[in-house]
Amino acid sequence: MDNDSPYSDCFYNFEREIDEEECTKFVTSLLDADSDRIRRLYSEIRTDETFHDAIEAGLTETNVRPDELGPNWRDVLYVLVRLRTPETVVETGVFDGLSSAYLLRALNVNGEGTLVSIDIKDPEILPSDVEDPTPGWTVPDDLQSYWDLRIGDAREILPEVAAETTIDLFLHDSNHDADHMAFEFDAAAEGMEPNAILLADNVEYNDAFANFAKDNLRNVSKLTNAKKSLQRDGGIVQNDKLGAGLIR
Ligand SMILES: C[S@@+](CC[C@H](N)C(=O)[O-])C[C@H]1O[C@@H](n2cnc3c(N)ncnc32)[C@H](O)[C@@H]1O
Repeated sequence: MDNDSPYSDCFYNFEREIDEEECTKFVTSLLDADSDRIRRLYSEIRTDETFHDAIEAGLTETNVRPDELGPNWRDVLYVLVRLRTPETVVETGVFDGLSSAYLLRALNVNGEGTLVSIDIKDPEILPSDVEDPTPGWTVPDDLQSYWDLRIGDAREILPEVAAETTIDLFLHDSNHDADHMAFEFDAAAEGMEPNAILLADNVEYNDAFANFAKDNLRNVSKLTNAKKSLQRDGGIVQNDKLGAGLIR
């Protein structure tokens, strides 16, 4: 691991930039969508200065990651939500709220929908230099009305959410241990109908996504969104990926 950066031990530091072509390729292999529309939506979020300024203000609250926000895999989340206009999006794993913010901005521009986000608020994971380390401190105030943030273990809360609502798009980005990922995929699928979108970050950590995808997903697509990522036991995964598929 590089040790010459203030962010050397932070997973965000290893994220890759995702350009318009990569975004378009990933989305068209997942969905039947027009490439020009995808490009327009990619450009819509990349040129959204109000959004980027608000997020970057939140990023200055801690030193756990760089304060500047370049193109990244969350632009793809935005494009998917703009294309699909989901009623209910559910994610696990909030941390500073970057994925939440992109999902919420897409709902906000759509003018409808709710994001349910689940985070365990583990003091060992959250940065100690944030004044109020409630997950999601980068989420802009004007997006809060679309947001239902639930604090607790996804093992308890996700089955409740899947029982109370139909999940149109699910993103796993919490604990990436194989048994936890498998649990979340099964629990989320209980609330999903055919064609709903299931996404998971860090799918190269283990076989949980591949095993779930074999029987439950079609149009499986992957996007290399990190040069490397760090496992909880200190292991390093090279060329980690965001995985996606449509529920069969
Ligand atoms: C990788 S971070 C999320 C990053 C964020 N999605 C982003 O866009 O960068 C993982 C988060 O998952 C949360 N987490 C870990 N285990 C969890 C669990 N069992 N249930 C809910 N949240 C959990 C941690 O508290 C942490 O905030």
